Amino acid sequence: MTPVLDAAEQLGREELAVLQLQRLRSTLRHAYENVGFYRRSFDNAGLRPEDCRSLADLARFPFTAKADLRDNYPFGMFAVDRSEVRRIHASSGTTGRPTVVGYTQRDLDTWADVVARSIRAAGGRPGHTVHVAYGYGLFTGGLGAHYGAERLGCTVIPASGGMTSRQVRLIQDFRPEIIMVTPSYMLTLLDEFERQGVDPRDTSLRTGIFGAEPWTEEMRREIEERFAIDAVDIYGLSEVMGPGVAQECVEVKDGLHIWEDHFYPEVVDPLTGEVLPDGEEGELVFTSLTKEAMPVIRYRTRDLTRLLPGTARVFRRMEKVTGRTDDMVILRGVNLFPTQIEEIVLRTPGIAPHFQLRLTREDRLDTLTVRAEARARATAGERAAAAPAIAAAVKESVGVSVSVEILDPDTLERSVGKIRRIVDLRPR
Ligand code: DLL
Repeated sequence: MTPVLDAAEQLGREELAVLQLQRLRSTLRHAYENVGFYRRSFDNAGLRPEDCRSLADLARFPFTAKADLRDNYPFGMFAVDRSEVRRIHASSGTTGRPTVVGYTQRDLDTWADVVARSIRAAGGRPGHTVHVAYGYGLFTGGLGAHYGAERLGCTVIPASGGMTSRQVRLIQDFRPEIIMVTPSYMLTLLDEFERQGVDPRDTSLRTGIFGAEPWTEEMRREIEERFAIDAVDIYGLSEVMGPGVAQECVEVKDGLHIWEDHFYPEVVDPLTGEVLPDGEEGELVFTSLTKEAMPVIRYRTRDLTRLLPGTARVFRRMEKVTGRTDDMVILRGVNLFPTQIEEIVLRTPGIAPHFQLRLTREDRLDTLTVRAEARARATAGERAAAAPAIAAAVKESVGVSVSVEILDPDTLERSVGKIRRIVDLRPR
């Protein structure tokens, strides 16, 4: 399919850099003048917004962390008068106060534009029907996808998450070309199609735009094959905007192009905070370039990835996120991410793409048990071979011993949105 590009997608690298610097300087000024937190943090660092004369100068400015947003709960990070705030979203967070974000009308327009651009990069076109199964509500997934799809000129089915059997019915009756959903909930839908005796390859769906949680190339292959669709990755986070910060282009499927005209990326060493050169893996940090209600300066996402040069677009790419620093399990000194286990589980014959990681402690020793499900059609031989095969592959690629349990089909809890892979049963 020939890509369709908007004006910003057709800029040259140099023109883009000029635009970014101009927007960056005005964002720094806006944040400094209107948010007490940024004024204090720049003052403490002995910096004024004018000290940013080049894009590289941004590295001199202090980071913003999730804790800073929590400390300023609920509206302390807003840079505009409350009467200018058109919408609020919040991420629940597992502990403590939620993180609150706000949008002006112009922010909502920008957001719809970048999501429309994302859907277009995924192969969506005006006139397509988009089934949105990201949750609607304080979570940015549902409404973010919704307004972007409308902006592109699509018909939206605002299904939200849950009521899985009804979702299958709606997909069959309304015949959407595109589905936007978490990859783990797509697997729940897959089970439901099969339960209802409908071949998932026979649906009207041609494209899936999956994000909000890490997923691997192995998962892409599984979903593409079982549904006969193109599966592409969409990334975003509420603090920076919501979905549509970066998007994989369907014609290359080679990582996600960051919409750099609105979001300026850096990758830093998670321990020292030092900026790393493109190509090196570290923690992704974002500075918003056009946000009014809640500008963010050097926001630490905790997501681990690498920056790569653009291919299908002028914008730089980020590699598929391997995991979050918070999801990293340190097992007897070895770092492990759920995505590493996902790759192995999905390669194992007779094993379904459903798994859970259970952490326990016996005799002061941490143990990780990979609990994976057999496929309904798995042979007895495949089932018997799976546990030792998974354990050996984890030992070989991650370098640590784990226990493996193979469960009967349909035993693990299914996802309705973002899946929780790690169940930590260790005493606190
Ligand atoms: O998850 C926004 C979103 C909705 C993105 C729908 C894509 C699709 P939060 O709830 O604030 O926002 O969670 C953000 O989710 O820092 C990542 O850790 C993770 N995440 C989001 N997209 C991806 C992705 C939304 N494509 C956090 N791959 C982020 C891996 C992702 N992780």
